Amino acid sequence: MTAESTALSELPADLNPDRLPQHIAVIMDGNGRWAKHRGLPRIMGHRRGVDTLKEMLRCCKDWGVKALTAYAFSTENWGRPLEEVEFLMNLFERVLRRELREMLQEDVQIHFVGNLGALPQSLQEEIQRSMEETKNNQAIQFTVATNYGGRQEIVQACRAIATQVQAGTLNPDEIDETVFEKHLYTVKTGNPDLLIRTSGEMRLSNFLLWQMAYTEIYVTDTLWPDFDRAELHRALCAYQARDRRFGCV
Ligand code: FPP
Repeated sequence: MTAESTALSELPADLNPDRLPQHIAVIMDGNGRWAKHRGLPRIMGHRRGVDTLKEMLRCCKDWGVKALTAYAFSTENWGRPLEEVEFLMNLFERVLRRELREMLQEDVQIHFVGNLGALPQSLQEEIQRSMEETKNNQAIQFTVATNYGGRQEIVQACRAIATQVQAGTLNPDEIDETVFEKHLYTVKTGNPDLLIRTSGEMRLSNFLLWQMAYTEIYVTDTLWPDFDRAELHRALCAYQARDRRFGCV
């Protein structure tokens, strides 16, 4: 390891290691605009977006963040031009195949959430393989929301609970937040402490609606492909300057 790479992997001195977010969620917005500004096809922005995500995952791991959840494809994204949707599905599959070995070496546990059954069969197989092979890894939990919609997630949780009530295995009086959360995709990952959204939009875009009730939101105008360690550092400084009260005084 060079002196430079050692320095990069260390938590910046102005950040308090005891007040880091345990779980960061990211809305990786602005790939298309990044490409357009350079006269490139939109897909080039997504390709660069993968590099940014990889760098962000490494940085979170180096700095001691225990979970990163990325919004890769929403239930609404099927409405994009067919060639862009096909490119993204192929990209996810290629990236998984290419990065699996490194995720194993780096002790990354990968997990996919969303309506995965509607994804192309070959991608579903790659997803299952990567989740199975990394399931005992410990350094960081990396969750990719794919064909994910927050409202759809809540509806499917309601349906699962209603089915249990109908079968007589659950009493309606027993339904509380803890029971409900057991039916969400994030049962293993928990709620994010910090949401980072790039490219300036002030929206949740149907992402982790239940889970983000008390998440701190940080929005930057930077486009996702330009988001780097310095930007993450800024986001973490902003987070540590916040007073999280969870509804108390
Ligand atoms: C939003 O930018 C970005 C996406 C819909 C795709 C993000 C996906 C990746 C970066 C690949 C992740 C890969 C794996 C395997 C985890 P946009 O197209 O909405 O940008 P715009 O708002 O400028 O049009």
